[in-house]
Amino acid sequence: MNENSRKHNILNKKKDDDEDLEDYKIRKELIDEKIVIYGKDLVKNYEIGDFIVKAIDNVSIKIKNGEFLVVKGPSGAGKTTLLNLLGGLDNPNEGQIYSFGVKISDMDQETLTIWRLMNSGFIFQNYNLISTLTSEENIMFPLSLAGIKLEEQRNRAVSLLKTLGLGERREHLPFQLSAGEQQRVAIARALSNDPPVILADEPTANLDKGTSYIIRDVFEELKESEKTVMVVTHDDHLISLADRVIYFDNGKIVDEEL
Ligand SMILES: Nc1ncnc2c1ncn2[C@@H]1O[C@H](COP(=O)(O)OP(=O)(O)OP(=O)(O)O)[C@@H](O)[C@H]1O
Ligand SMILES: [Mg+2]
Repeated sequence: MNENSRKHNILNKKKDDDEDLEDYKIRKELIDEKIVIYGKDLVKNYEIGDFIVKAIDNVSIKIKNGEFLVVKGPSGAGKTTLLNLLGGLDNPNEGQIYSFGVKISDMDQETLTIWRLMNSGFIFQNYNLISTLTSEENIMFPLSLAGIKLEEQRNRAVSLLKTLGLGERREHLPFQLSAGEQQRVAIARALSNDPPVILADEPTANLDKGTSYIIRDVFEELKESEKTVMVVTHDDHLISLADRVIYFDNGKIVDEEL
């Protein structure tokens, strides 16, 4: 090895060591402060031809263990994009995401999938139900991936469907369900593994008043059981449960209310 490449290696090793130390300090701080999710200096751009949409424009956000956080903001503000990044469903162009003290933005896809399965329940704005599975099977699906016994999978699915007013819709396929019913199956699926973190994107958007009360009760229970909840919503019922509301616009946090 010549002198130049030896120096180069030493400098690179020092850079790696410095980054490891910085990372260690961040992770320790997050654990000490009981921060469950930390998005640090996040940037997410979408390029369509020559046009770039800055969906997330240098955002940092910390969510505490047991916190109920509501995100509000106009259409196109970047709320879904933010939720997807923090839930490990999408990668940022810049920045890091830590969850439970682990840097999830560095994980490979396979590890991240297992990690998500154990740690978070995601309620999608467009439900994302599996079209060939019944309501019951959609709810059982994450449980089967988690290795839960078949009987227990079915019991949990049936009980969740009943709680959400869908006891009579067990055998229905997604296309045989109304939008609000699909939304409730998506909620049941997200809760089925009893994850410590729930990320929900407009979970009551398609529900009438009566049904949205059921969902409010579900979220109230989540709050009482000290789950960490981040919910994008404009629903006053859900907002009334919030420990903190952040306002999102143009890819940035523009205001925050406790
Ligand atoms: N896959 C994509 N490709 C290109 N642009 C995208 C993509 N996803 C989102 N965007 C753009 O990024 C911006 C933020 O989108 P996002 O879905 O996060 O907004 P939102 O706040 O959730 O809106 P809404 O309230 O309508 O759900 C929008 O301008 C959108 O057009
Ligand atoms: Mg959205």
